[in-house]
Amino acid sequence: MAKLDYTEITPKDKYLNRKEFLKALGIAGASVAVLAACQDKPFIAGDDLPRQGVIPAAPNSGGSTEEFGNILTAYEDVISYNNFYEFTTDKEGVARLAKDFQTSPWEIQIGGLVENPGPISMKEIRNRYPTEERVYRMRCVEGWTMAIPWQGFPLSALLEDIQPQSSAKYIRFESIYDPKTMPGQSNRYFPWPYVEGLRLDEAYHNLTLLATGIYGEDLLPQNGAPIRLVVPWKYGFKSIKSIVKIDLVEEMPVSLWMESAPKEYGFYANVNPTVDHPRWSQATERRIGEYSRQPTIMFNGYKEEVGSLYEGMDLRENF
Ligand code: MTE
Repeated sequence: MAKLDYTEITPKDKYLNRKEFLKALGIAGASVAVLAACQDKPFIAGDDLPRQGVIPAAPNSGGSTEEFGNILTAYEDVISYNNFYEFTTDKEGVARLAKDFQTSPWEIQIGGLVENPGPISMKEIRNRYPTEERVYRMRCVEGWTMAIPWQGFPLSALLEDIQPQSSAKYIRFESIYDPKTMPGQSNRYFPWPYVEGLRLDEAYHNLTLLATGIYGEDLLPQNGAPIRLVVPWKYGFKSIKSIVKIDLVEEMPVSLWMESAPKEYGFYANVNPTVDHPRWSQATERRIGEYSRQPTIMFNGYKEEVGSLYEGMDLRENF
């Protein structure tokens, strides 16, 4: 079986960019406009995204490229089509507005029900937690998906250090609040700062990542630099960006989305084709780079890994 190193299977500079893709398809200039009109953005990516699981990307880790599909979402697309409402609700405007966002120095305040509270700097985080590479699908509740090679470390590594007390049941994350540099935060519709949370067993799950990079490079501001959460079996909005505060708590945290639209967004937000968003179906999804829609996969393809966390729960009730 071939050794797998994602840099071998998906070298960034070998990704087809849009022009090359169109050239490869033999599509002439006139057709480009049609392409653009049919999609929210004419992304280019491959045709077979990894469906599930982790690709541990240490060069000597096992696995074969065939098992996962070889082509990920193009780097260009991952960094130019973003949801980061602190800057703007316009996906293609985030990168420009976030360009000069200062992500260094940076600290996360750790508090709540932990034995070891206090600030931890990004420098300490980088020194203390070696990163690994993982390819995850990301499914937005809006119905689009990407497959992204992240660098990060399991949240469980941090939890082991900060030591949640026995009364802690949930973990609560907060993004930076800085309306002077984040124009979207003057939008009073949202109860800033952006807050998200996980149940403690979800937080300890090995798939749950604190990410500091993509494609072997540090995160750019638009993707949540310098550090963000990635929870691949949940809708993308759980994967909170630019984290400045982590608290262990007893009560279920109320996220920004739960507070602003409680009928539309629940705490769990597990990808589930059978539970629709009140305003749109979740049965299908569109991979960035393709026209057609595919069936949504339960838990975004990670059922084997995480299904047991929700045994006996009514997932319609706990949406
Ligand atoms: N985190 C913060 N702080 N603010 C946001 O607006 N958007 C969420 C999530 N994390 C968001 C956030 C949503 S809706 C999605 S789909 C993902 O980030 C998008 O991540 P990406 O832009 O890196 O693809």
